[in-house]
Amino acid sequence: MHCACPTSSSFLLLPPFNTIRAQVLQIGANDPVLPTTGITVSYQMVENTDAGLIADAYFSTWISYAPKIFPGYQPLVNGKVVGLTGNGLSGTMTYDALSKSWIATGIPAFPPVTGTSTDVMTDPLGGPNRTPYLTANVTVKNTAGTTLATTSTVVPVAFGGCCSCHLDVAVANGFPRTPDGSFKAMGKLHGQNSSKIDLSLLDPDGDGVGGPIRCSECHLDPAMGETVAPGFANVHPNYTILPGATFTKADVKTSTMTFSQVLHNFHSGNAKVLAMKPDINTNCYACHPGNGIECYRGVMKSDGYTCVSCHGTLAVRASSGQTAQPWNAATLPSCNKPAKGVTGSCHSSTQYPDGGGWASSFEGKYINNRGHKGSILCTTCHGAPHADAPAQTAKDNVQNLALQGSARALGKCSVCHPKKSTSWGVPAHTRGGAVLP
Ligand code: HEC
Ligand code: HEC
Ligand code: HEC
Ligand code: HEC
Ligand code: HEC
Ligand code: HEC
Repeated sequence: MHCACPTSSSFLLLPPFNTIRAQVLQIGANDPVLPTTGITVSYQMVENTDAGLIADAYFSTWISYAPKIFPGYQPLVNGKVVGLTGNGLSGTMTYDALSKSWIATGIPAFPPVTGTSTDVMTDPLGGPNRTPYLTANVTVKNTAGTTLATTSTVVPVAFGGCCSCHLDVAVANGFPRTPDGSFKAMGKLHGQNSSKIDLSLLDPDGDGVGGPIRCSECHLDPAMGETVAPGFANVHPNYTILPGATFTKADVKTSTMTFSQVLHNFHSGNAKVLAMKPDINTNCYACHPGNGIECYRGVMKSDGYTCVSCHGTLAVRASSGQTAQPWNAATLPSCNKPAKGVTGSCHSSTQYPDGGGWASSFEGKYINNRGHKGSILCTTCHGAPHADAPAQTAKDNVQNLALQGSARALGKCSVCHPKKSTSWGVPAHTRGGAVLP
């Protein structure tokens, strides 16, 4: 589940940005093959529409302010909403040989108000509930334009929980209970840390107004595609510092700490945070989307595991070095072992080898991996990491139910092999000698 900020007028943690992967299998008389030519694969978001996003009071702040945050980027082209990588709410997917899947990156999905029962996410700013579990329809056509196959998948996106504390932090610091008040308070507090930088006094384009600020310009964030933080002055060469500041341009430096590091480490140890939420070290939903929705909703949850079982407490995440190397296979959990610095026994690496996956600087050995005989992504059979089949949310189970009549991981051999068993089983997990990538 991707997190998006409700408003983008003052600061931005993460932009609207969801990525869909689809594997296409050609089922003939023998073993399935994965065609790479002769087909087009396309996606269409269902609940998000261009008109709906343009009219949305929150998304419209993204449309207005994103060009200041990402100079050169235009979120609206010919009346259509376009994400940071150029993909909109519908389009074609590109074949990626490494994952053997078709990918559309950076879809600008955003939780809408639908007025229906799917509006289960509460709004930390007090607005109406919104729908976080969106749908994308995926269609495969041949070169003649005939539809060969269709499926649908869940595109989850939600607001994080910062506001649930930071509106109060704003008031405690003498600012109004609004996103802007929260930004000013956060900026002031940031000015009191070793950086001296009051974020609210940074004016990126010299128009005399503070913000909007993107944290990952100074704090490395691989989720923003970074391998180093770009630096504020490099992104905004014409920036100015507003009057009243007690720092200078010489102080406006990139941080030695990643974005994951500053957020997790600071909040795990701060006495004022602990006074607001004494259980902050184990309450990941204080920030990660738990506001009525529970981003963690898979079979591992049904089996009784919590965020901390696999990832560790905030304090462990900080002290073990996970946050210094975020979004990385070296620190994230896999099916065979919990996250770096966490102990616990997981699935047998002999029976269910994760095989290491392929080297990727972004995300772990579950997402970047294929199993069975070598071609099929773990996620194709098992679903998304925190919605692993059978998930607690009906919507995440739709594809497996349609294919094999069971919400469990794909195990009915005949779904893919017409000549093999029509009953459900556990496909071999070893790759039979196949080496990745
Ligand atoms: C459990 C409540 C809580 C949550 C949730 C929370 N914060 Fe905080 N945050 C605080 C408190 C309390 C402070 C310190 C206030 C003080 O010292 O007066 C703080 C301080 C900060 C600071 C200033 C730290 C510094 O020294 O520079 C930043 C920046 C910040 N928070 C960002 C965030 C962001 C971004 C999120 C969401 C991802 C978030 N916070 C979620 C309670 C929270
Ligand atoms: C202009 C650069 C810049 C921007 C933009 C920026 N920071 Fe920082 N931040 C720093 C520097 C420098 C430090 C000092 C830490 C270090 O590297 O030694 C710091 C420190 C922090 C700390 C204290 C960490 C600690 O444990 O001491 C927090 C929390 C933090 N930043 C959060 C944020 C958040 C949240 C945002 C976006 C709203 C943000 N920062 C934007 C440069 C920046
Ligand atoms: C104070 C707010 C806050 C709390 C509390 C929090 N997180 Fe996060 N977490 C974030 C933000 C914001 C990001 C996105 C950082 C980025 O974009 O790099 C994040 C990213 C992550 C990541 C991916 C990056 C990485 O470090 O590998 C993991 C894993 C993670 N959080 C786990 C947890 C777990 C587990 C808990 C509870 C024990 C938790 N978080 C509690 C704010 C928080
Ligand atoms: C059963 C173990 C398990 C539990 C429980 C779990 N996670 Fe994860 N989490 C993983 C694995 C495995 C990955 C790495 C997936 C990959 O990239 O291959 C991951 C990755 C993440 C990431 C990085 C982004 C992503 O989706 O890859 C975040 C953020 C995160 N977890 C947060 C949480 C939070 C918050 C909770 C609790 C609400 C939680 N996790 C519960 C196993 C778990
Ligand atoms: C062709 C489909 C398919 C692929 C690909 C696949 N699995 Fe599985 N896997 C299954 C099925 C079906 C089960 C049995 C699930 C059940 O008992 O409900 C299973 C079971 C498992 C289990 C044991 C779960 C338990 O309940 O004990 C683990 C761990 C696992 N798989 C990990 C992986 C990993 C890691 C990958 C990728 C490297 C992967 N799988 C790839 C279909 C697949
Ligand atoms: C999601 C689709 C999928 C499912 C479900 C699936 N397989 Fe496969 N299987 C493949 C693909 C694709 C290959 C071809 C090798 C490759 O490209 O990875 C394959 C290859 C094989 C092979 C090696 C080739 C051969 O025919 O000797 C065996 C054995 C096999 N599968 C057995 C099974 C059994 C048994 C099941 C059910 C328990 C099963 N598979 C379920 C996709 C699947």
